Amino acid sequence: MTRIPHEMSGEPNPLRALTLDRLRSRTSMKWRAYPEDVLPLWVAEMDVPLAEPIVRSLTDALELGDTGYPAGTGYAEALAGFAEKRWGWEVAVERTAIVPDVMLGVVEMLKLVTGPGDPVVVNSPVYPPFYMFVEHMDREVVEAPLGADLRIDFDALDETFRRATTGGRRAAFLLCSPHNPTGTVHTADELAAVAALADRHGVRVVADEIHAPVTAGGVDFVPYLRLPGAENGLSLMSASKAWNLAGLKAALAIAGPAAAADLDRMPEEVSHGPSHLGIIAHSAALRYGTDWLDALLAGLDDNRRLLVDLLAEHLPVITHRPGEATYLAWLDCRALGLGDDPADVFLRRGRVALSSGIPFGTGGAGHVRLNLATSPELLTEGVRRMAAALD
Ligand SMILES: Cc1ncc(COP(=O)(O)O)c(C=O)c1O
Repeated sequence: MTRIPHEMSGEPNPLRALTLDRLRSRTSMKWRAYPEDVLPLWVAEMDVPLAEPIVRSLTDALELGDTGYPAGTGYAEALAGFAEKRWGWEVAVERTAIVPDVMLGVVEMLKLVTGPGDPVVVNSPVYPPFYMFVEHMDREVVEAPLGADLRIDFDALDETFRRATTGGRRAAFLLCSPHNPTGTVHTADELAAVAALADRHGVRVVADEIHAPVTAGGVDFVPYLRLPGAENGLSLMSASKAWNLAGLKAALAIAGPAAAADLDRMPEEVSHGPSHLGIIAHSAALRYGTDWLDALLAGLDDNRRLLVDLLAEHLPVITHRPGEATYLAWLDCRALGLGDDPADVFLRRGRVALSSGIPFGTGGAGHVRLNLATSPELLTEGVRRMAAALD
């Protein structure tokens, strides 16, 4: 396995490439949900141009009129090459399936291992769609809150698994790895403990690993399915977060060896959902976009450090543990005395849009999530606006 230091790619920092005017002409959710005077640092879109190999792959496809239905295992093979180099993990291409996106993939995996009314355990605070999608599919979300150190609390998880499986109910654990919003990267020991606990209680693990490529310098991501004991796990991976491809829909479901038969039961029509152009873009990212990714990761390392400095200078009362992965920062604002929803105050008085912690579930009140995948200038402006909201 080759570990590539972030700063060695030679590519320019993509977070510095776009002006605010250019960004404001975008029509995606980040830039259209709020009025023009609001600086958006909320939803997980990045303020970067597309990596050149992705542009080239899409342009070639458009020139060719290659806009039909997706086919083959090209995406899984591209991920396998990336995963081998980055994580020393061999993806079994024959145990993969393309799915429309990660959340719809999560829904399909949960359908394979649970039935209506069954519990799905999550580690709150967690990505709000975990609640929305799971409830929409008629499963019951059961929280096993993270510990005060923002890592998995194994006593809480054990007890929650025990309660969830009482009376022989089928239960699943929707693991967020790395964890959104805290940026926690679960260690190999923690993941092995998850697998052992799940096995003991007969709980099936579905791992959402969408943020896996976006680790901080010196931090190793461990794919859940690489661990002994995780053989009946299911994972969802995608290039969407790391290369800013949310509008080019595609993702991969991957089964451990003991979950292959489950994945085989996924209806064929689910794999008709991803966009062929999405698969072309994601595959190009994983195959040819690693220099660009390394430049991004170096820029994010800088931004994580910058945010620590900015908070120390302007908002020292906020408690913040810099993430080990993702481009999201989880800020504990409770000491500011702004109530359960400080994001609302920052928006109304500071004209900066952050994600409210409340929809992240237990542990979210009094917190905000800040997206630091922007230029150092806009990050600085965002914190200045947060501070101005308190004047
Ligand atoms: C943990 C997590 N899962 C899933 C998604 C959404 O992925 P997709 O757009 O592929 O459904 C996100 C987006 O930010 C996320 O943070």
